[in-house]
This record gives sequence, structure tokens and C-alpha cells, in this order.
Amino acid sequence: MTCVIRLLEEIRRTAHYIKKKGKTIGFVPTMGYFHEGHLSLFRRARKEADVVIVSLYVNPAQFAPQEDFKKYPRNFKRDLELAQGEKVDYLFCPTDKEMYPQPFSTFVSNESLSSVLEGKSRPAHFRGVLTILAKLFHLIEPDVAYFGQKDYQQALIIQKMIKELNFNLKIKVLPTVREKDGLAMSSRNLYLTPSERNRARTLFSALQQGRDMVSSGIRNSTEIFKKVKSCLRRTPGIKLDYLEMVDPETLEKIKEVHKRALLVGAIWVGKTRLIDNLWV
Ligand code: PAF
Repeated sequence: MTCVIRLLEEIRRTAHYIKKKGKTIGFVPTMGYFHEGHLSLFRRARKEADVVIVSLYVNPAQFAPQEDFKKYPRNFKRDLELAQGEKVDYLFCPTDKEMYPQPFSTFVSNESLSSVLEGKSRPAHFRGVLTILAKLFHLIEPDVAYFGQKDYQQALIIQKMIKELNFNLKIKVLPTVREKDGLAMSSRNLYLTPSERNRARTLFSALQQGRDMVSSGIRNSTEIFKKVKSCLRRTPGIKLDYLEMVDPETLEKIKEVHKRALLVGAIWVGKTRLIDNLWV
């Protein structure tokens, strides 16, 4: 039975009690509308930790005013059932009033990795993510927190925060879970109309094409992207935000691939923005 907790003081007391009994906490922070990607994180936490806590909170601080905060999919009943199915022990669903008591003025930000890729398109995004996670990590004091590889830049920035601000927990990043045609699972896929859904896999195809070119011995990213981007641009209804080959530690663009690199991309399909990445 999954126990729902809404109050900060209650989750703090519960987590404290669990730790005092010598048990480990596996924590999965989410914004809800669970899909197989979330469930894979719950399952891993269930396998590895004594107690599994999932937070469900659509964090206003990580959305810019023109973004999709209001329409972000929410279905508490469905999420609770799915959490129950995965034997999640606690579902923590705080309120805005408690999370961001007004006036709220303290934020956590990363000064080096959050101005590129996602951060360039969504300038205040990672500040919002780090701030909410710093709060959740303080309240829950997990041993391990689980994230998906789809949000690679997010996971990297979180790892930096853990290290540089001396949080006492481990971060585990699990592989992206995909639909049958390769589209990375995301709560935002729900926004897609059937015809947009058909076109959405273009991003994964572009990344695959880039990866295949690297595997076939082409090392120069300009050469790779010329072909891959022209393919993307030919798909109607798709707008390319960015497609880059980056160093997985620094997120700096790579001109010639000679070691493990990451292909990262973001596209607009109609009004929906999708991201994905692949190792090369
Ligand atoms: O990846 C997400 O769903 C969110 O950015 C997170 C980590 C739950 C913070 O709100």
C-alpha cells in the first residue's frame, strides 16, 4: 500500500524515522503522469533500497512564464495506482504553498553547465530543477536518487550539485525507455496529435543516423550534421532547436570525435518540445 504524504513536516519525520531504523531510502523525484520510464526507476529503487519514496510535484520554478506549466499532464489517481503497482512505499505530493512560501528568494544554480543546450533554450530551467531537488534531498535524505538518461544534462548538473555542495547521496542514471518506434518516453508525448506522434520519432532517427555515421568512421561533426540536419529539415511540421555532439563531462561541442561523446538534440513538433540523446 502506497502512503500519500502532502506535508513537509510529515515527510521529514517519516524519512528521519526510516533512517533511524537503519533502513536505506531510494528516492525518485518526478513531476507525475508516470510512464514506463518512471516505472523503470521505481523498479530499480525497489530492488536496491529498503524504502522507496517518490515525489510527485510539478515544479513551477523550472518553467518559464510562456512554457507549459499550466497544461503539464496531471492525473493523481492514475499515478497513485501505478505507484501502488510498483510497490512504492511513499508518494510525496507537496503543495506550492509549502514548497515556495512567498516571498521566496533562495535558489541554487550551476554557473557553468546550465547555459548551453537545454539551458540556452530554457534559461531559468536548471535553477528551478536544482532548487527543488536541493529542498527534496534535504527533506528526504535519500541514500540514492534515480534519474533517466533522456534528461542527460539535468542528471549531469545534479551530479555536480551533489559533489560541489556536499550532499550525502548517490545519483544513478538509468537508460532511456523508448516506445517501439524509438521515441523516448516522456509525459509530454501526451500533447502530440496522431500525425505529430508519427513525426516525433524523427529526432531519434536523426540521432541514430549521426551515430551510424560515427560508427562507419566519419569523425567530423560538421560533415555529420550537414546530412542529419538536412534530413530533419525536410520533415514537415518539425522545427529543429539544436542538434550537437558534445563532451559528456563539459557539454562542450566536439568537432572531431575521438572518444566517447554524446549526441544531443531538441526539436519542436508543433507546439511540443522534445529532447533526446544517444551515446556515440
Ligand atoms: O525530470 C523531472 O521530472 C524534473 O525535472 C524533476 C527532476 C522531478 C525536478 O522537478
